[in-house]
Amino acid sequence: MELPILLLCLFVLKALLTLCSFRSKGKKLSSLPPGPKRWPFIGSAFHMPKHYAWRTFSKWKEVYGNIIYLDVLGTPIVVINSASTAKDLLDKRSSIYSDRPHLVMASELAGLDQAFPLKQYGEAWRTQRRLISQHLSSSAIPKYHMIQESEASKFVLRVLSNKGLRWTSESLRKQVELGIAANILNVTYGYPLNSADDPFLRQSTRVMDDFSKTTEAGAWIVDMIPQLKYMPSWMPGSGFLKTARDVRSNYEAVIKKLFQWTKDNLDNEMAIPSICSTALSAKGSYVSAALEEQLSFAAFSALGGGLDTNISTFMSFILAMVLYPEVQAKARAEIDNVVGTLRLPTLDDKESLPFVRSVVTEVMRFYPPVPLGLPHSLQQDDVYNDMFLPKKSIILPNVWYMLHDPEVFDKPDIFNPSRYGGLESEMQKVTDITFGFGRRVCPGRHFAENSIFSMVATLLATCEILPPSDSTGKEYKPEVSMVGSGTIVFCGPFECTIKPRPESSHLLGEL
Ligand code: HEM
Repeated sequence: MELPILLLCLFVLKALLTLCSFRSKGKKLSSLPPGPKRWPFIGSAFHMPKHYAWRTFSKWKEVYGNIIYLDVLGTPIVVINSASTAKDLLDKRSSIYSDRPHLVMASELAGLDQAFPLKQYGEAWRTQRRLISQHLSSSAIPKYHMIQESEASKFVLRVLSNKGLRWTSESLRKQVELGIAANILNVTYGYPLNSADDPFLRQSTRVMDDFSKTTEAGAWIVDMIPQLKYMPSWMPGSGFLKTARDVRSNYEAVIKKLFQWTKDNLDNEMAIPSICSTALSAKGSYVSAALEEQLSFAAFSALGGGLDTNISTFMSFILAMVLYPEVQAKARAEIDNVVGTLRLPTLDDKESLPFVRSVVTEVMRFYPPVPLGLPHSLQQDDVYNDMFLPKKSIILPNVWYMLHDPEVFDKPDIFNPSRYGGLESEMQKVTDITFGFGRRVCPGRHFAENSIFSMVATLLATCEILPPSDSTGKEYKPEVSMVGSGTIVFCGPFECTIKPRPESSHLLGEL
């Protein structure tokens, strides 16, 4: 059968099945949340944005409100445009809102749901999450302070070794990636990462790109018409099958190799204790092959969850410092006043540096790295404010809008760390959204905040971040927007200059 005819048949079949199931729900349909027009068979498929969906959903907020309903070829999608609604549903009703949608491309074909961020809500998810989250809780993370501080120092040394002082966001990102990845690989596997070209790192970043690409809402037609997965691979239009195969083989290979590295080094006296080595060598514990497999995927989840999210946040911080020099000066002045210029700031100083914490928080609000969060899935029919939300709805929290909601944040389009008044309770309004919701909330959030704080404070104490200059030597402010079409986005591209502060030249010896 020709591809277009096959597609059409599948399309009509799926739409008919959906129509029958909706008919049986009778008048519940009439109380669905508002949303773009739905047509027979295809629903609102043509309205579903393929890329940068949060921008379209944010515009729709004015038209449809806090909850928007779409039906893409029978798959119900609920977009949440308000933090309080997200809390009502994803936090307070987390017993039925904690599943992940079954993504045909990312999960079924590419196998990325073997690690718990994409796993269905259930025992396997719980086991993996527990293996990791106990080591990343707020009471467990102080033991990583030294690692994070040391990686922050190494990062600044690498930055200062560039005698030209000029950076493109692309070249700086490589140095940031090395620092962030070194933190996580150290803590999860005990692996000492020393080079941006390390093969484990390169393979892992490929997994991250693949994750972001294959999980993007609306990007893969096979997620909307699952029957397409049966297409023969010789057929035109079946390129996604090869993409999925490549993603899976790289993913499984790197997970196996990293875990094997820890196992091979268990008896090595020089090896650094890690989440994996602690679990494998716990006294009196027998680790079955099945548990080992869960552990290997759980450990990689930490790297997968923590790498690009942290890199995006830190790169946005650099951009913010280029664009808002007065904020940079104020943050540095706080460090100079509280810590002095005779030693480097440490994570123990974090409590006493509310403005620096506010800067990091404002970066996360202004440039959220995961603007649509990760999708949740509703496990049973639900009713909210008289609106019917069907079982298996994909729930998309529009994090970007929530963090730019004028009802919550005064003048949201202005970068202003002072808006929090230095109060943790105000900053929490941001972090409660940025790191996700309910039982799926990011298990690495405390660790992430410390990694970023440490790099931010060390860099501000020792260096000045300046705008780039044009060919005549005149400084200019780069115009930048969020780019990257996947789940995790970055600001860029831009250029900047980073030079050592003369006042703290003696601090460089401490790095
Ligand atoms: C700025 C840094 C980070 C941001 C903005 C961030 C954001 C998020 C978000 C939005 C989610 C989805 C929550 C939901 O489904 O509602 C998530 C999940 C997750 N994050 Fe993070 N994250 C960051 C850093 C980290 C770090 C450092 C780690 C590990 C060391 C980590 C590990 C994970 C894992 C494993 C999940 C999946 C949780 C689950 O499905 O149960 N993240 N993160």
